Amino acid sequence: MTAQSGDHTRTVREQFRIQSAQFEQQVGGIGNRAIGPWILENLPLSGAESVLDVATGTGLMARDLAPHVRHVTGIDVTPEMLQQARDQSAAAGLSNVTFDDGNAAALPYADDYFDLVISRIAVHHFADPVVELSEMRRVCKPGGKVVIVDITASDDPTQADAHNQLERLRDPSHTTALPLSGLTALAQRSNLAVVHTSEADAIRDLDEWMDLTATPQDVREYITTAFETDAAGGASTGMRAHRVDGRFKFVHHWAVLVCDTGKSGG
Ligand SMILES: C[S@@+](CC[C@H](N)C(=O)[O-])C[C@H]1O[C@@H](n2cnc3c(N)ncnc32)[C@H](O)[C@@H]1O
Repeated sequence: MTAQSGDHTRTVREQFRIQSAQFEQQVGGIGNRAIGPWILENLPLSGAESVLDVATGTGLMARDLAPHVRHVTGIDVTPEMLQQARDQSAAAGLSNVTFDDGNAAALPYADDYFDLVISRIAVHHFADPVVELSEMRRVCKPGGKVVIVDITASDDPTQADAHNQLERLRDPSHTTALPLSGLTALAQRSNLAVVHTSEADAIRDLDEWMDLTATPQDVREYITTAFETDAAGGASTGMRAHRVDGRFKFVHHWAVLVCDTGKSGG
């Protein structure tokens, strides 16, 4: 691990220690509940798979997958998120889900181990996503699938920059949300071939989104001003800012990319 990636891991752990308090309620809440079934619809599952969920967080994706596969292993670097994952899995009575502590940049598993390797809304937190995606490919069996699920930015670089700047202000562990074309190129650089994509919108509430990260007041005011400017027809936030019943909302655009590993022997 380089000094830079070590610093980034500390930033991730600090951010998600904070977010662990409300993550289940907000990200697993009503507003996002449609996302889970939509992701499952896009996965080529037979029911016999051993799955790795990279950067599992509180295990929302792992728990969604559990009834449809043989076993799910979730892995994450933030202890407080993993504790929630273990508690929620136990509370749900799931016997085919286990969780490990570890870094996506150096996965503690043998080559060609899992049938399906997935990571949901985490690539935009990775220090150098080619490293993490290459690790996901390494531990995936020949003939298996690597699946990237992430929020995307606009294809317009000005809008994408505005969006990423606001995301980083609100959560310093955010590195870069890419447009779908950028995620596809990233997969290719990681020796993954995208064979299926799907996209969906999810509406988020601005204040709840900033509550989740305990965003400091001065940053909240800066981001809110950017939303006011956007909603009034000024500079775009790149986030499709709008008001509903007086509250600011925005759109997180999601993408699923199902990838072949290109390994021989599958
Ligand atoms: C936005 S949460 C997503 C959690 C989960 N995948 C979900 O969809 O609900 C991002 C998670 O990525 C984890 N994470 C970020 N970088 C990581 C890395 N290099 N290795 C393992 N986990 C990482 C964080 O600790 C956090 O739990």
